[in-house]
Amino acid sequence: MALLEAKDLSYGYPDGTLALRGLSFTLGEGDKIALVGANGSGKSTLLLHLAGCFAPQGGEICLRGKSVGKDLRALKDAVGMVFQEPDDQLFMPSVALDVSFGLTARKIKPEIALSAASGCLERLGIAHLADRPPHRLSSGEKRLVAIAGILVTDPEIIALDEPTAALDPRARREVLKILGGLDKSMIIATHDLEMARTLCRKAVIVQSGRVVAEGSASELLADEKSLERYGF
Ligand SMILES: Nc1ncnc2c1ncn2[C@@H]1O[C@H](COP(=O)(O)OP(=O)(O)O)[C@@H](O)[C@H]1O
Ligand SMILES: [Mg+2]
Repeated sequence: MALLEAKDLSYGYPDGTLALRGLSFTLGEGDKIALVGANGSGKSTLLLHLAGCFAPQGGEICLRGKSVGKDLRALKDAVGMVFQEPDDQLFMPSVALDVSFGLTARKIKPEIALSAASGCLERLGIAHLADRPPHRLSSGEKRLVAIAGILVTDPEIIALDEPTAALDPRARREVLKILGGLDKSMIIATHDLEMARTLCRKAVIVQSGRVVAEGSASELLADEKSLERYGF
């Protein structure tokens, strides 16, 4: 049985833009899938559905074979999403409070949440940022904090939206190292083909709101040239 499955999803934004047009997608237990496609192909919209931020207008999402229907809570609990813009995710006055927020929001006592947050910052090698205000960090640091804020809740599935976008090589290597060390089911939307080939065994290519190819990441993402036919 698939861990997470999107069946024939369709979604249009209020201005009439059709972002998903009958998109189907399956994530198996332990899968690490790269989601690749041109700008505007629907990657972020799909992730927002999988993470329970958007309700499908057509089609359905199933978690372990069970349709979640309107119960987006089940998806929110199972899928931790790292947004493309860390600024959309970070909002507390300090990094430690920000990272602990996912736990305090689940009614975990603040001191326990803070101690879990500091353990998580430690594991990611960013304990020194704990007292800094998130909005003053560099974009690489913000990205690591955003990842910590998701890992702290230990979600079953992690969805990452362009986790290496706008990072310098060192920060990118840091993110790769962290993601490579995670034993989790993951879906990563990215233009970073090298990262996709390194971290993911499978790739799914989207174009105009539909899946147009899927298979082995090393084969499908071998080079940019072969992706041109998908508008990439
Ligand atoms: N808030 C929005 N309002 C209207 N259209 C949007 C909005 N966000 C995204 N879109 C449109 O939906 C389509 C899919 O966008 P998106 O899922 O962000 O693609 P990707 O992440 O692959 O770049 C694009 O045509 C985009 O312009
Ligand atoms: Mg996007």
